[in-house]
Amino acid sequence: MNGLPTVLDVDTGIDDALALLLALRSPELEIVGASCVAGNVMLDQVVRNTLGVLAVAGAHRVPVAAGARRPLLRRLTTATFFHGEDGIGGVALPAASREPLAEPAPAFLCRLAREFGGRLNVVAVGPLTNVALACVLDSSFAARLERLVVMGGAATVPGNVTPVAEANFYNDPEAARIVFESGARLTMVGLDVTMRALFEAQRYHLLRDVIAAGQDPVARFAWAVLDRYLKADLAAGLTGSPLHDPLAVAALVRPELLTCRALHVEIETGGRLSAGQSVANVNGLVERLESRGDHDDVVGLDRPPPNCDVALVVDSTAFIDLFCERLGLSVSPRQHTQ
Ligand code: RIB
Ligand code: CA
Repeated sequence: MNGLPTVLDVDTGIDDALALLLALRSPELEIVGASCVAGNVMLDQVVRNTLGVLAVAGAHRVPVAAGARRPLLRRLTTATFFHGEDGIGGVALPAASREPLAEPAPAFLCRLAREFGGRLNVVAVGPLTNVALACVLDSSFAARLERLVVMGGAATVPGNVTPVAEANFYNDPEAARIVFESGARLTMVGLDVTMRALFEAQRYHLLRDVIAAGQDPVARFAWAVLDRYLKADLAAGLTGSPLHDPLAVAALVRPELLTCRALHVEIETGGRLSAGQSVANVNGLVERLESRGDHDDVVGLDRPPPNCDVALVVDSTAFIDLFCERLGLSVSPRQHTQ
């Protein structure tokens, strides 16, 4: 095995599909499994999409495990406006020629973490329900991971579901909280960087001839799903589609594309307006309080220990170049000027 052993936990979804393809086309990684969680669409559809996307890439042997059908405590919110009723914008996938494992995703994650003895990486790009359940199932799970990269949250920018919450954390705040308190070596790839990693509509249109002339099934599929994604994002006032989940994969493939800061991050689980908010302690201090009978008094300042490397800056040009090169979506300079 040459690349970093890696599992993707997905709620496939268009950008999850693109993340799977980027991971499978990156020799820096060895994809040893995919675990599925309900999110962008319902779980059975997530499983179908994941098996289909792996088939598009010829990855027929990557094991797939089905996991949580709903968040730990809350009602699921799906996102067919962005991803289509089937989660992949109505693009045809190869018929599934195999079933997912009988083993549930949280147990699958725990088993792989044990088998890879401290070398396993997890890139979680859906609600964190499966990962939280793995933490609960095996108290040594989080510590056994080499790294856990999470696509989710918003440390210094607004949310994309509520004014403060990002979709994956909004969908299962309790799970996100468990994961952030787990002690895992955590990288948070949130909206701070993913909203700057746009696949521009202009580039998409330039690719039409390249795709039509090419035979690469991965490039054709990626181009087709981006169509739906772009329509929704243009309607939302953007100039392109944020490649949220592929950027989380890039955090392992090319860590130097992201500049991270070690911060203490807590996930809000209460609050009518704030559930799912990732609260990053950017100034690094908390007040120490002591009770004075009928009130509390500030008696000092503490420094909460960082629990997460939070990505705050991205080299978006280099990332989009990497994404396009790996997925066969590169426009040559000659085509560019035509
Ligand atoms: O907020 C972006 C995240 O939510 C991505 O993982 C995307 O797939 C959506 O579900
Ligand atoms: Ca996702």
